[in-house]
Amino acid sequence: MKILLFLLFATYSRAAIVKVRAGPGYDCAYCQPEQLHISFGSKTNDIVVTWSTFNDTTESRVQYGEGVMDKEAVGYSTLFTDGGPQRRSQWIHRVVLKDLKYDTHYVYHAGSEYGWSEEFSFKTAPAGQDWVVRAAIFGDMGNKNAHSLSYLQDEAQRGHFDLILHVGDFAYDMHDDDARVGDQFMRQLQPLAAMLPYMACPGNHEEAYNFSNYRARFSMPGPHESLFYSFDLGPIHFVSVSTELYYFLQYGLKVLDNQYRWLEKDLSEANKEENRRIRPWIVLYGHRPMYCSNLRDDCWNNYLPNRVGLPLLGLGMEPLLKQYGVDLVIWAHEHSYERLWPVYDEKVYNGSLEHPYTNPGAPVHIVTGSAGCQEKTDPFKPNPPVWSAFRSSDYGYTRLKAYNKTHIYMEQVDVDLKGKIIDSFWLIKDRHGAFTNL
Ligand SMILES: *[C@@H]1O[C@H](CO)[C@@H](O)[C@H](O)[C@H]1NC(C)=O
Ligand SMILES: *[C@@H]1O[C@H](CO)[C@@H](O)[C@H](O)[C@H]1NC(C)=O
Ligand SMILES: *[C@@H]1O[C@H](CO)[C@@H](O)[C@H](O)[C@H]1NC(C)=O
Ligand SMILES: *[C@@H]1O[C@H](CO)[C@@H](O)[C@H](O)[C@H]1NC(C)=O
Ligand SMILES: [Fe+2]
Repeated sequence: MKILLFLLFATYSRAAIVKVRAGPGYDCAYCQPEQLHISFGSKTNDIVVTWSTFNDTTESRVQYGEGVMDKEAVGYSTLFTDGGPQRRSQWIHRVVLKDLKYDTHYVYHAGSEYGWSEEFSFKTAPAGQDWVVRAAIFGDMGNKNAHSLSYLQDEAQRGHFDLILHVGDFAYDMHDDDARVGDQFMRQLQPLAAMLPYMACPGNHEEAYNFSNYRARFSMPGPHESLFYSFDLGPIHFVSVSTELYYFLQYGLKVLDNQYRWLEKDLSEANKEENRRIRPWIVLYGHRPMYCSNLRDDCWNNYLPNRVGLPLLGLGMEPLLKQYGVDLVIWAHEHSYERLWPVYDEKVYNGSLEHPYTNPGAPVHIVTGSAGCQEKTDPFKPNPPVWSAFRSSDYGYTRLKAYNKTHIYMEQVDVDLKGKIIDSFWLIKDRHGAFTNL
């Protein structure tokens, strides 16, 4: 009995010592992980887990495994200070789960000795190119009036997608109320973004303080602070660009020039015969469209700098789409959905009249920026231009399914109509590569 009591005492006092050693007099009321989300790392079987704590936990750990959390990975945290008057700060933690098994369910939680998140799970992508890639795609969601959010949370948790592409404009705005709006938005995102890779690009609503909230809160692949990057998934090479670098020139032209040179190199590599043979699709996304037919200013003329370049500087991106044969181009920013006929330099190049999207003569663009947001939806000009194929100002999001090397299927989910599909099309190509006809 005495021995038992001694053992109990020893155990408790040891626990007490450990606790004291972990944080002498340290108020760790704010060490609880929140705002968890995941993304692809430098390859798609590396998963990056990102989260926030308001106090310094001195360590960043993820415990994970197949069914049981028997593995651990350690990362790092950085102090992010918002640019607003209160200079609110938080610790952003990043941990890479490296060399995961393909096509495998993992469970995980994230945290430190001061507190762990709830348990989440995700499934890694299959290996190779021969599997059906399923994406949800949208822009302009907002933390208020986020009409599509519950649909996306639901679909994500039911395993309908392999990834999300959020094509800019997140929280309206992440820096508002000293970045409390950003925190709120990232919490709303957790039920879907902790379950599957949430891939992002910056929009105009992320501009404040040189895109600092965007750069701090997301962990996209590559060394460019999430502003531009690419990754391979199944039969698709995905490329993400910042169109905002063409509009907010006060942050320096160097980063715009860097992006352009990076983009040309990335696309030319992806378009090499040996790469295109195994991974034929190139899908590029960025926030502001090259073409749109809404009533808003940006659509009155389609001589937008991200398409045709800036005065004197050039760097317009549309010629790169032609030269390196980008198949599908996805934009947002206009709070509506618009599908275009295959278009280059404002002219339509249908595959054929009956099958415009079978071996089209130019890239195919869509604009999908109607996920929600308090600015509501954008109406269209009365007479659609020749390149405009379908338009809707209802709230919604887009689903992409890349079946194989020749067939991509796209559809538009209308959440005003409780999930009805209002538009769909097949993009069919048995030849990929430069549009030499243009
Ligand atoms: C812990 O976080 C709270 C809330 O953000 C903050 O007020 C406090 O200063 C932080 N304490 C330390 C030691 O960082
Ligand atoms: C804005 O951020 C980019 C990316 O980190 C950096 O290259 C650039 O110098 C910054 N511009 C200013 C004016 O701080
Ligand atoms: C492209 O195809 C669509 C659908 O058949 C048709 O309505 C449109 O007029 C075509 N455009 C051109 C320039 O051929
Ligand atoms: C590609 O997928 C489409 C749609 O499921 C199918 O009709 C076609 O036969 C497939 N092609 C190959 C080569 O598997
Ligand atoms: Fe926008």
